[in-house]
Amino acid sequence: MNICCTESQKTMEGRLGVFMIALVLLLLFVQSGLAQEEVRLNSSIERSALLDLRTSLGLRGKDWPIKGEPCKWIGVECSNGRVIGITISGLRRTHEGRKKPTFAVDSLVNLTSLVYFNASGFYLPGSIPDWFGQSLNALQVLDLRSASILGPIPSSLGGLSRLTQLHLSHNKLTGSIPSSLGQLEELSVLNLSQNSLTGFIPSGFSSLVNLTRLDLSSNFLSGSIPPDLGNLSRLQFLSLSDNSLAASIPVQLGDLARLLVLNLSKNSLSGSLPLELSGLRSLRRMDIGDNSIEGQLPEGLFSNLSQLQVVVLTGNKLDGELPVALLSILSLQILDVSSNNFTGFLPSLSTNGTGAQFNLSNNMLYGNLTFSLSKFSWIDLSSNYFQGKLPEHSQGNVTVTKNCLQMDNQRSWQDCRLFYAERRLPFDDPMPPELESDSKSNKRLIFILVGIFGGIFFIVLLVVVLLVLRKICDKDIASQRGSANVGPVPVDSPSLPKDPSVSWVGESFSYEQMLHFTSDFSETNLIKHGHSGDLFKGFLESGMPVVIKKVDLRSFKKESFMMEMEFFSKVSHVRFVPLLGHCLEHEGEKFFVYKYLPNGDLENSLHRNTRVEDDRLQSQDWITRLKIAIGAAEALAYLHHDCTPPLVHRDIQASSILLDDKFEVRLGSLSEVHAQEGDANQNVLTRLLRKSQTSEQGLSAPLPMTCAHDVYCFGKVLLELVTGKLGISKANDASTREWLDNTIRCISIYDKELVTKIVDPSLIIDEDLLEEVWAMAIVARSCLNPKPSKRPPMKYILKALENPLKVVRVESSSSAKLRTTSSRRSWSAVFFGSWRHSSSESGTAPGNTNRDSSSGSKHAGRVGSQGSGGNRLSNEIFPEPVEMQDVERQDSH
Ligand SMILES: *[C@@H]1O[C@H](CO)[C@@H](O)[C@H](O)[C@H]1NC(C)=O
Ligand SMILES: *[C@@H]1O[C@H](CO)[C@@H](O)[C@H](O)[C@H]1NC(C)=O
Ligand SMILES: *[C@@H]1O[C@H](CO)[C@@H](O)[C@H](O)[C@H]1NC(C)=O
Ligand SMILES: *[C@@H]1O[C@H](CO)[C@@H](O)[C@H](O)[C@H]1NC(C)=O
Ligand SMILES: *[C@@H]1O[C@H](CO)[C@@H](O)[C@H](O)[C@H]1NC(C)=O
Ligand SMILES: *[C@@H]1O[C@H](CO)[C@@H](O)[C@H](O)[C@H]1NC(C)=O
Ligand SMILES: *[C@@H]1O[C@H](CO)[C@@H](O)[C@H](O)[C@H]1NC(C)=O
Ligand SMILES: *[C@@H]1O[C@H](CO)[C@@H](O)[C@H](O)[C@H]1NC(C)=O
Ligand SMILES: *[C@@H]1O[C@H](CO)[C@@H](O)[C@H](O)[C@H]1NC(C)=O
Repeated sequence: MNICCTESQKTMEGRLGVFMIALVLLLLFVQSGLAQEEVRLNSSIERSALLDLRTSLGLRGKDWPIKGEPCKWIGVECSNGRVIGITISGLRRTHEGRKKPTFAVDSLVNLTSLVYFNASGFYLPGSIPDWFGQSLNALQVLDLRSASILGPIPSSLGGLSRLTQLHLSHNKLTGSIPSSLGQLEELSVLNLSQNSLTGFIPSGFSSLVNLTRLDLSSNFLSGSIPPDLGNLSRLQFLSLSDNSLAASIPVQLGDLARLLVLNLSKNSLSGSLPLELSGLRSLRRMDIGDNSIEGQLPEGLFSNLSQLQVVVLTGNKLDGELPVALLSILSLQILDVSSNNFTGFLPSLSTNGTGAQFNLSNNMLYGNLTFSLSKFSWIDLSSNYFQGKLPEHSQGNVTVTKNCLQMDNQRSWQDCRLFYAERRLPFDDPMPPELESDSKSNKRLIFILVGIFGGIFFIVLLVVVLLVLRKICDKDIASQRGSANVGPVPVDSPSLPKDPSVSWVGESFSYEQMLHFTSDFSETNLIKHGHSGDLFKGFLESGMPVVIKKVDLRSFKKESFMMEMEFFSKVSHVRFVPLLGHCLEHEGEKFFVYKYLPNGDLENSLHRNTRVEDDRLQSQDWITRLKIAIGAAEALAYLHHDCTPPLVHRDIQASSILLDDKFEVRLGSLSEVHAQEGDANQNVLTRLLRKSQTSEQGLSAPLPMTCAHDVYCFGKVLLELVTGKLGISKANDASTREWLDNTIRCISIYDKELVTKIVDPSLIIDEDLLEEVWAMAIVARSCLNPKPSKRPPMKYILKALENPLKVVRVESSSSAKLRTTSSRRSWSAVFFGSWRHSSSESGTAPGNTNRDSSSGSKHAGRVGSQGSGGNRLSNEIFPEPVEMQDVERQDSH
């Protein structure tokens, strides 16, 4: 000020100066005196209440000095001598106060004029006192955000009848939202986001007529969005994102004409996007991403929403075309419709700015890109079907990978052609010029035809398969009992349906149960990644061990799953893996629950046994192996002969042969079971299909659908049992075939000793058992006949395995001297007579050593319908001396 000046110039105009000083000082005094009066707390109760608060929260003397005037403390606001507001956010506790911080604000009870209490960001680890609602009658603003508050929201808060703002966001609140909050009629801000609240959104909120901001995001709220939120006519901000809300978006939300921001993202909302949302005339931001909204976007939805700046619909199931009205909103700056099923041609994208960020990736949009991409600061068009060339000046933040554009990193042309052909759209096929001349339109026609006929063919095939499976096993139960009596297998399935048409696929389990049984499909419970699903070990509630197959329909064929389901619904037989139940309720994953079989599969079990050193166990092991061979043969004989039409397993290998605690076979891997082709149900389509499925050698080729193929595979399993060489039945490569050829050379009906060259060295066997091994090897050899028509049918294989010594002894006793037709007939009459009788396989050219599978179905088809053949004896089926010589001669060529 000019005080110094006036003093130094006293001599000049002293009186005036003194007067001025006096005036200024007086003014200053009056002013400060008035101010002092205004902020002085004149209630001793409130003074001691503040001091108590200071102590209980452990505030520092620096901020709240004990001797100073409380109304001047930082964050304390007084009016008319009373405390009306306290803000402790930003204050620090003393060293002492930090030791045991609690939510200790009891003395607030005595601050009866308190209008606001703001503790945002202040560490208050405790729950909101119940008395808040009863005592803080004047409170209008309660801000406890980010204060580490625990526990539930007391329903007494509904008593704070003058409350206008309630901020409880970013805490650790639990429990549900009390419906009493609906009584806070003056409330304009309610922010409960970022807590752990559960339960439903109360439906009484419609009386919060003054609410402008409602934020319940990032909790665990469930149920549906209450329609009466549409009554909150002043609402400007509504966020329910990141909860577990389900059901569809209520049309009443369209009444929120003042709404600026609508955020419903990251829930489980379903249904379609209601046209009524077009009533949100003021809306700037719409985020409904990451839900399960489906259907098309109504064209009229966006016609009134001209203020939109941000539209996020990513990660839903929306399809159809993007509405022109949406694409022509000029103010649109952010558009994210990625990861939906939107399709159609993009006419143009309007945005008047230059900073727009659009994400249209992962849809099925197509056609030429006709609009300029340069006005976007960022645009992602990847994983669509756009074709042609990129518009000029489109460098920068433009992502266009995985389309059908004429540039790098695109889809395969086959995908693109198919996509365009299926929709009958013109595709600018960028084939090399020499092919280009080759009548492009014809090719397009072919693609269209392939698409159409492929679809029809597939549907017809499915129908045929289902029809065929439906006819299975007229004599199902009867024959099952019969065949169960044949073997040493006890009939152990009292729960089998009496009527084979009654579907029996076990108990129906829930998805939760599946998770529970397998400890959420933990890695430790994983048995293996099977070719039709992942196998997990698990335990039922009863403690019973089970095996659960998880079929992820995204990576496994749905048909395989349906086949197996169909199989179990029609066939029940003790020789197949026992199905206990299923779970179909999950959309993408289906489950089978099987009985747990303690000895696993043959592949692992054989391995384990070969490691045993004890002699006694080893010789018993041959008995086990024979038992396994018989068991598997029984299962296959049932499929091939007792079902009409015959069923083909198509996946016979060691790992499909499961073993129970007594090493009884329970055949598994039933997802490939299929009706044999070549029966009455055969039609043009199945014949066509069969043409491409004849080869056994094809590694990835579709599996042949003939019984003879099963027999071939079974032969490999038998050789695996004889030789102990693992993996033979699984593999089909050149080295395996070479091994098979070499091994078969050591199997001769004349020379028992020759077989010792191939017998599993870990098997210790006496002379008697060697004959059985020899017999099994001979059976295996006949199964592995390159000509499918010459492989024996399963029921004769079964008989031979049940009486192995007769296979070799009849021959060996007669081999030296009595090798006559009659002696051969004598043993064959015992075991194979009936088959020989019915079989009239016409002799195929002897020199033909090609592996010709196509005739197999002819043969096996006749087996399925016995008695239609002639009487000519076939000498080519079981190894009799003359024929063996023939085959050996053929092999040596
Ligand atoms: C406190 O002061 C205000 C005005 O400053 C006055 O209205 C009120 O009556 C006083 N209260 C007491 C208890 O003195
Ligand atoms: C409120 O003030 C009264 C009167 O001074 C006192 O007895 C009481 O303990 C105070 N309450 C709290 C919670 O501090
Ligand atoms: C509470 O205090 C913080 C920090 O001063 C402030 O940012 C916030 O806006 C206040 N709350 C209310 C509701 O005014
Ligand atoms: C609610 O609180 C959270 C966290 O404090 C904040 O991010 C959000 O913007 C708030 N919502 C409203 C509508 O103010
Ligand atoms: C809503 O707020 C307005 C002022 O914004 C106020 O006049 C009116 O009384 C409030 N309504 C209720 C029900 O509290
Ligand atoms: C898109 O549609 C296809 C069939 O047209 C469907 O298989 C796919 O699951 C759909 N994708 C989404 C995300 O809904
Ligand atoms: C774009 O259009 C909107 C409304 O149509 C307008 O508010 C905004 O200023 C425009 N932006 C530019 C960059 O022209
Ligand atoms: C796409 O653009 C190419 C030129 O790049 C043009 O030859 C073709 O006709 C266009 N296709 C369509 C469907 O507009
Ligand atoms: C690419 O995007 C970034 C951020 O989104 C922006 O800063 C940059 O300018 C953009 N580049 C071009 C060439 O548009």
